[in-house]
Amino acid sequence: MELFDVYSLFDITPVRAQGCSVWDSEGQEYLELYGGHAVISIGHSHPEYIQAVTEQVSRIGFYSNSVQNPLQKELAHLIGDASGYGDYFLFLDNSGAESNENAAKLASFHTGKDRIIAFRKSFHGRTSGAVALTDNPRIQSPFNSHHKVTFCELNDAQAVERELSAGDVAAVIIEGIQGCGGINIPSDSFFRELRELTVRYGACLIVDEVQSGYGRTGRFFAHQWSGVRPDIITMGKGIANGFPCGGILVSPEFKAVKGMLGTTFGGNHLAMAAAIATIKIITSEKLIDNALKVGQHLLDTILSKTPVKDVRGRGLMIGIEMDTPVAPFRTSLLYDSHIFTGVAGQSMIRLLPPLCLTIEQADTFTNAFNTLLK
Ligand SMILES: Cc1ncc(COP(=O)(O)O)c(C=O)c1O
Repeated sequence: MELFDVYSLFDITPVRAQGCSVWDSEGQEYLELYGGHAVISIGHSHPEYIQAVTEQVSRIGFYSNSVQNPLQKELAHLIGDASGYGDYFLFLDNSGAESNENAAKLASFHTGKDRIIAFRKSFHGRTSGAVALTDNPRIQSPFNSHHKVTFCELNDAQAVERELSAGDVAAVIIEGIQGCGGINIPSDSFFRELRELTVRYGACLIVDEVQSGYGRTGRFFAHQWSGVRPDIITMGKGIANGFPCGGILVSPEFKAVKGMLGTTFGGNHLAMAAAIATIKIITSEKLIDNALKVGQHLLDTILSKTPVKDVRGRGLMIGIEMDTPVAPFRTSLLYDSHIFTGVAGQSMIRLLPPLCLTIEQADTFTNAFNTLLK
C-alpha cells in the first residue's frame, strides 16, 4: 500500500532530537527554528518529559472518559495557575481543529445562534467547521461550504459590528496572532472592541491560541497582551510537546450539559502525562520569559542586520517578509545551513522554535540568514 500523497516533503529523515537540535538518518545535525510547526514547546526529548511519559505508559496508557482520571484535574489546575484562567473550565480533546470545532459548537449551543464571524487570512484547521472558518477556498470541499460563516478584515471593528447587529451571530473567532496567514497581529484595541461588541450583541468571543498560545509570544496566551478575557480559548500544538492533545478553556458563564461535547481519546492518561510534564517544565524553566527575551533579540538582530521587507511578531512567533519568493531561501537554510524554518504564503519565512531557544542559537540563524542574503 502507498501513502495518500498530500504532503510536499523535504528529503530528510529525522531519527533523533534533543533540545533545539534534530539529527537525520545520515547523522547530520539541524537547528530547530520551526518546532515541528510550533509543536515542540519545551524542546525535544526533555529528560523529565521522557520519564513522565515512559512511567505513565508502563502503568496505564489509556482508559475512556467513563471513569475517573485525576490526571485531567491535575492538568486543569496547572493550566489555570499558569494562564491566570483558574476560574474557567477545561475540556480536553486531541488537536487544534477539534478544539475550534468544539468551541464553535459550544458557542452555538450557548447562544442558540448559528452564524460565526471569522477573519480574512485566518487558519483554524481542516475538520468541517474549522475549515469553513478558514479563509482559504482551496482547502474547502463543497461539503464544508454550508456552514454560516462571514469573513471580516482583521482590525475592522465597524465591519464586525455591522455583522453582529443582524442578531444571528453565535461567535466571533480570531487567532491570538494569525500564523498561517502571515504573522498578522490584531491590535490590542481591536481585541478590546471585539470584547465589547460581542458582549453588546450577545455573541461569544473565541480566541484560537492553537499556534500563538502556551507561552509562545511571551505571555501564556497572545490575547493577554490586550487584557481581554474571551469566552472560549482554544489550544493544541505545544500543549503536550508533540503528543497529540488539544483543549478549550470555557468561561464560568457556560453551563456544562452531560453529553454536549465528547471524544474517545481526549484527555487520555498518556496525553495527560505528556501535557502535565510539559506545563511543569514551561513553568519551572521560565520558558515564557525566555520566549520573550530570545524572541525580542531575534526581532532586533534581524531588523538591524538583514535587508528584508518587514519583520514582525511577538516572542518566538516571528515572520520575516521578503520582496521575493522565500522558497529558495528556506531550502538553502535547510540543506546548506542545516536550519529548519517554516513559511507563510510565498513571501514569508516563519520562525516557531522551541521556547527554550538560546540567544546563541538565535544568532546562528540570523548570521546564516544574513550570509544568504549577501
Ligand atoms: C491557529 C491554528 N488553529 C488551528 C490549527 C489546527 O490544528 P491541528 O492541525 O492540530 O488540527 C492550526 C494548525 O496549524 C493553527 O495554526
